[in-house]
Amino acid sequence: MRKTHSSLVLLLAAALCLLIGPTIASEAESNFNDDDDGVVEAVQDDTPALATDENGEELVYESPKYDPKQFHFVDHFDDIEKSQKLWVKSQAKKDDIAEEIAKYDGVWSWEAPQRIVWKNDIGLVLKSKAKHAAIASKLLKPFTFKEDKPLIVQYEVTLQEGQECGGAYIKLLSANKATDDLTKFNDKTPYTIMFGPDKCGNDIKMHFIFRHVNPINGSITEKHCKKPKDRLEEPFKDKLPHLYTLIVRPDNTFEIRVDHNIINEGSLLSEFTPPVNPPREIDDPEDKKPEDWDEREKIPDPTAQKPEDWDDDAPPQIPDPSAVMPDDWLEEEPEMIPDPSAQKPDDWDVDMDGEWEAPLVDNPVCEKVSGCGKWKAPLIANKEYKGKWRAPMIDNPNYRGKWSPRKIPNPDFFEDLTPFKMTPIGAVGIELWSMSNEILFDNIIITDDLDVAIDYAAKTFDLKRKYIDKESDTFLNKVMTYGKDNPWSWRIALVLIVTPLAFFFYRLMSGKKDTTATDKKTDAVQPDDKPSENKEDSTEESSPKTKKSDLEVKEGADAADNEEDSGKDSTEDVDGGASEEKETEETTSNKPRKRRVRKDAS
Ligand SMILES: *[C@@H]1O[C@H](CO)[C@@H](O)[C@H](O)[C@H]1NC(C)=O
Repeated sequence: MRKTHSSLVLLLAAALCLLIGPTIASEAESNFNDDDDGVVEAVQDDTPALATDENGEELVYESPKYDPKQFHFVDHFDDIEKSQKLWVKSQAKKDDIAEEIAKYDGVWSWEAPQRIVWKNDIGLVLKSKAKHAAIASKLLKPFTFKEDKPLIVQYEVTLQEGQECGGAYIKLLSANKATDDLTKFNDKTPYTIMFGPDKCGNDIKMHFIFRHVNPINGSITEKHCKKPKDRLEEPFKDKLPHLYTLIVRPDNTFEIRVDHNIINEGSLLSEFTPPVNPPREIDDPEDKKPEDWDEREKIPDPTAQKPEDWDDDAPPQIPDPSAVMPDDWLEEEPEMIPDPSAQKPDDWDVDMDGEWEAPLVDNPVCEKVSGCGKWKAPLIANKEYKGKWRAPMIDNPNYRGKWSPRKIPNPDFFEDLTPFKMTPIGAVGIELWSMSNEILFDNIIITDDLDVAIDYAAKTFDLKRKYIDKESDTFLNKVMTYGKDNPWSWRIALVLIVTPLAFFFYRLMSGKKDTTATDKKTDAVQPDDKPSENKEDSTEESSPKTKKSDLEVKEGADAADNEEDSGKDSTEDVDGGASEEKETEETTSNKPRKRRVRKDAS
């Protein structure tokens, strides 16, 4: 209650500041801008904002021209016909699950992003959710790891609907018979590397897994890269394009970059679990701890004796033997008595409610004296108290240290010092199961030249992000300029936003009072079934939720705003007035209505 109150005050204070603030600021600004009015006019232009680069050149996308010789694989998906010839949709079935969910029937589509930046910038979109989906393409030329050149894998993902649970990783399929027929591509198809983001709930991963071939017997083990230092949350939330780059070098080092920033790096030999190379020695499984092996470092002194006068049972506290009962102590008088002013209620039913008894109250007689009832001496510390006797600990003469089995050479030992030399890659595949749809893949490339990858990103991803950043800048500019030229618009906007919020908080507070009042009333009639029901119906009002921090409540409001106005809306709605109107309408009409429903229910 207190918190809600103070947050209301804070809100109103903030509203006042904001109402007065812009007036001063805008006056100062308009004085400042008097000379170059023209600049302001220009930004105010009603034609839609086009993002431009530093030199004022409009940012325009063209499908990158490239020399295919520089790539092992490259697809920008813009040439739909050509791209669709490259990719093969899987018609496989998972063999280890129920028939009805076993099919790879996820839907793939070549289309522009939902948030269109350029109509001609097409991506490969996983349209369906909660379905197995798999699609793959042969490389232009296999990547064999034989040359002294790095492997660079780079691609772009936009989680257009965010992601709660699901991956957006790709698999570099090993070149062999299993990858000849890509219509059979499934989760068991052997891959050499799996790379990319994955998330389920709070578990966020940036996979880099490679499958290592045991040089002794040819068995294959997945090696998982250590976790990056930082949690990678943004790509799963912001619905923007992100660029993932994996670099694996002939010197067995690797690097993972997200949006060009290195987020993980290290050595194939040391940063993977299980390690590529098994230990040289292992514990001898035959070796057993001898019966008489004494691992106790200290033992109780066997020669020590309990002193004669040691009493294990002496209590830590005893009644003070020197204390005496005060003269005015009334031992015959009870401490509590039945309330003489209490009256049996009229509707008391002895059959139903049992014999009526007045509630007990403090005996007023005792207030005027030292005390009533049986007198007890106060407790004091017992000088005789020693606790349970224990022999002092001494070094164990038979102590032989902690036992561990002897080491023997590991029969499975091998040493692969060039794990970079992996199984050749013949195809690239996407094999997913996701709880979110509309996952857009774009600009998938595999090359052995980092400069080529960086240059390709500059013509695609970098340009797109630049556009998106500029575009949101421009939107902000527009809003600011509008506010500057029409200072009243700020105040109206704020009144329209703050008033309903304040009203909402006010209802929250008074709503709380209402419920407690009804609680009491109803309690008398049907004491049993009320509270739990009430909690479900009016989560926001019931006392546990009222304790939620102000922040949380505000966040909630923000989130609601965002959901309505974010993304497309905020960029298209350049006219501030329209969105304001929409917002108020929703806030004022929604909240009281919800309240009413809840009241009826309780
Ligand atoms: C190969 O050796 C590893 C131990 O290094 C062992 O775990 C595995 O079972 C062996 N596989 C085969 C197919 O023999």
